[in-house]
Amino acid sequence: MRETWVAGAAMNRFGKMAETGREAGARVALEALDRAGVEPKRLGLTIVSNAFGIAEHQAHVGPLLNTALGIPEVPSFTVESACSSSSAALHEAFVHVAGGFSEAVLVVGFEKLSHLDTLAATSYFATGADYTFESQNGATFPGLYATIANAHSQKYGTTPEQLGAVAVKNHANGARNPHAHFQKEISLATYLASPMVASPLRLYDCCPFSDGAAAVVVVAREALPRPAAEPLVIRASARAGDIGDIHDRESLTSLSATRRAADAAFQRAGIERREVQFLEVHDCFTIAEIVALEDLGFFPAGAAAKAGADGTTARDGRLPVNPSGGLKAKGHPVSASGAAQVVEVFEQMNALAGTRQVPHAEVALTHNVGATGSSCSVHLFSRR
Ligand SMILES: CC(C)(COP(=O)(O)OP(=O)(O)OC[C@H]1O[C@@H](n2cnc3c(N)ncnc32)[C@H](O)[C@@H]1OP(=O)(O)O)[C@@H](O)C(=O)NCCC(=O)NCCS
Repeated sequence: MRETWVAGAAMNRFGKMAETGREAGARVALEALDRAGVEPKRLGLTIVSNAFGIAEHQAHVGPLLNTALGIPEVPSFTVESACSSSSAALHEAFVHVAGGFSEAVLVVGFEKLSHLDTLAATSYFATGADYTFESQNGATFPGLYATIANAHSQKYGTTPEQLGAVAVKNHANGARNPHAHFQKEISLATYLASPMVASPLRLYDCCPFSDGAAAVVVVAREALPRPAAEPLVIRASARAGDIGDIHDRESLTSLSATRRAADAAFQRAGIERREVQFLEVHDCFTIAEIVALEDLGFFPAGAAAKAGADGTTARDGRLPVNPSGGLKAKGHPVSASGAAQVVEVFEQMNALAGTRQVPHAEVALTHNVGATGSSCSVHLFSRR
């Protein structure tokens, strides 16, 4: 396999977009290409993620995006893997470039649902779960993750205050991120007073519905002799799957796809967990961050809930987690989220993260989950 780099990455401010998803996708793609110093015509392939494009009456968006970039002749395809769509697209880009099929591949993820109300957006999102056994029977994602939170609480004694500590930390990070949907700090008291959505998950346990777009330029090392920015080396790109329905799984308190993807990534990269200096993990709900940290192997089962409350995972803690604000505060435009995690790693490693800069940014991990963990991507990056 060839050494494969992220040469550039860019995103817009998540939240509410006036423009269409594909317009935003083209804009961030040009920004990422500019950061990389790669001309669009150098691309061998574009991989697009837009899981809920149907909300904008648009599928098969790749050729439209390439036309906007001035490269209609370049092939494209769409990757859909629910909330892990653009990290799955990144995996495909990695395979193409590392395998020698392309010199440079563009990954673009975007989503626009702000024109829908909460009920309609919830129904669209629920199509990422199992319609027959879950969504048709009223199980929404807040409900499914509440089931996980209740099981975690019963098994390990996880408290509302520990869930709240994750929300407080991620909002504090988001407040320093100009790309974030929510740029406001919250206190634990605000968290505890917020409305219940699906017990025990409150408003501030949940990621919001966000519009947004993010893009990543993946290149072979030899294709980029003089990079415009400091590229990231993709040390490993691993994916894993699991049973779709949580009621059929062995455990409600652990996502086995995360464990398998993480083990494969660390083995392929030859990196030890103690070498990782910061993480962007999939915190669609606060409980998801806690479970992710345990399944990724950074904390024993039942021990990660304390890490938010005691400051271990704060921006200036021993292991900064979600310095971007995570899905919780930065926002979660489903198909842009995996690519946006890479934007955060790119900005941290290029010292472009301003007041949210973590002290050591040499080795990082991204973790992106589809649905309740039936799909998972783990990527490891280091500075060149
Ligand atoms: C939590 C949730 C139910 C809130 O929806 P809602 O009650 O209709 O909230 P509204 O959109 O009416 O917003 C009400 C206020 O709360 C804020 N808000 C909405 N969602 C928020 C969230 N997740 N976190 C913090 N604040 C939020 C809004 O900005 C608004 O603030 P304002 O009054 O100051 O303008 C909704 O955001 C949700 O379902 N999130 C989960 C999405 C999801 O499942 N994603 C897939 C994950 S796998």
